[in-house]
Parts: sequence; C-alpha cells; structure tokens
Amino acid sequence: MTHGLFITFEGPEGSGKSTHAHRVAERLTACGYEVVPAREPGGTPTGEAIREILQHDAAGEPVAPQTELLLFASSRAQLVQRVIKPALARGAIVICDRFADSTTAYQGYGRGFDVERVLSLNDWATGRVVPDVTLLMDLDVALGFERIHQRNLEAGHGEDRFERETLEFHQRVRDGYLALAARWPERFRIIPSDQPVSVVQAAAWDAIAGLLPALPEGGRHEG
Ligand code: TYD
Repeated sequence: MTHGLFITFEGPEGSGKSTHAHRVAERLTACGYEVVPAREPGGTPTGEAIREILQHDAAGEPVAPQTELLLFASSRAQLVQRVIKPALARGAIVICDRFADSTTAYQGYGRGFDVERVLSLNDWATGRVVPDVTLLMDLDVALGFERIHQRNLEAGHGEDRFERETLEFHQRVRDGYLALAARWPERFRIIPSDQPVSVVQAAAWDAIAGLLPALPEGGRHEG
C-alpha cells in the first residue's frame, strides 16, 4: 500500500506552530508534493463544529473536562477517517497542526487525567494512525503567553478558554510534551522556538527534509 508522510506540529500556546506548519506546507507544495493541511480540533465540517464548542463554550455552559477529552477525541476520529487515512493512502503529505499528542499533553498532563488511559483513548480514536514525525515547537511558557497576549491585543479579541488557564497548567502541558518526546525519541524532533521565525523555520525544514518520499514521475523536488 502506498503511504505518504504524516507530519504533526505540536507545542504549547504561542510556540508559533501554526505559522511553521503553514510555511512547511507551502514549501512542500512548491516542491511538487500533494500536501493536505489539517488542524485540530477541526479539519472537517463535524470537527469545526466541535471546535466552536471547545473554544468558546458555544453551548452556553462550561464544558466538563470529561466532555472536553471526548470531544477532542471525536474531532480527531472524524479527521482520521475522512481526511488523513485517504490522503496517506494516495501518497500525499499530511501536515496536521496538533494531533493526539495535544490531548495527552493538555487533557492528560494539563488537566490531570490518567496519561496511560488518555493514550489508549487516543489509540482507539485514531485506529493507531501515528505520525511519521512530530515537530515539537518548544518554548518557555511565560514567553508563549506574552506572544499570545500581544497577538490578541493586535487582533482586538480576548483570550480563549485555554489561554485563560493558569501558567501552572501550561507549564504541565509543556513538561508533558517533553516527557512524550523522551518516550518516543524516534518520532519526536524538538525545535527550540524562541528564535526568529526564519531560524526556527530552517530547523523545522531540516527535521523533515530527510524523510520526504520520492516524487512521482514528472514531479519536481527542489527542496
Ligand atoms: P487553537 O486556536 O488551534 O490554538 P493553537 O494555535 O494554540 O493551536 O486552539 C486549540 C486549543 O485546544 C489549544 O489551546 C490546545 C487545545 N487542545 C487540547 O487541549 N487538546 C487537544 O487534543 C487539542 C487538539 C487541542
């Protein structure tokens, strides 16, 4: 069976992961690859509806932590079945802005749900579709908060549910990510993200460049 390449970007708030995921996707497209970008929660109509609930308590009541965990898993199950699996089967490169590691870091380490239980829920929801490589955009939590605050000021809106969490919560998330990277060193690449965008982008590109599949006949690949 053909198998494309499954790349995920992970990291705490303000780590710049969305910017870098977007730039890597653009560069791969320019090289001639079929790139399928996706984001979590979301990435499908069902997932985007779930995202609304999760980001802003759109249902008009606080989301219970158990509900939150299951909604993230639901959004991901839909994304895997509808988008990721078909794309990988036809040989595309899937670039996902957050994936199952976010649930382990935020709901497991952050909220305090049993990490092994979260991992097994993730396995069930994804049908064990695991990224080929995960770029962990690592950043000091206080610095990430400064960036988020600045971005929200410029955009003229307030903090979302997760941005309103305490620094301690986000510190647990970051430490959780680092624990996951230590547990699966062959999958994770830690990218220090306190440098200028161009430097971080070069590191992100270096982390994936050696993994790119050969382009189909007639394709271009000028890296
Ligand atoms: P988003 O606006 O995409 O933020 P970011 O740019 O930081 O990715 O919001 C996603 C939020 O949801 C983010 O704060 C992390 C959180 N999250 C979880 O708690 N668990 C998950 O499984 C996922 C995918 C995201």
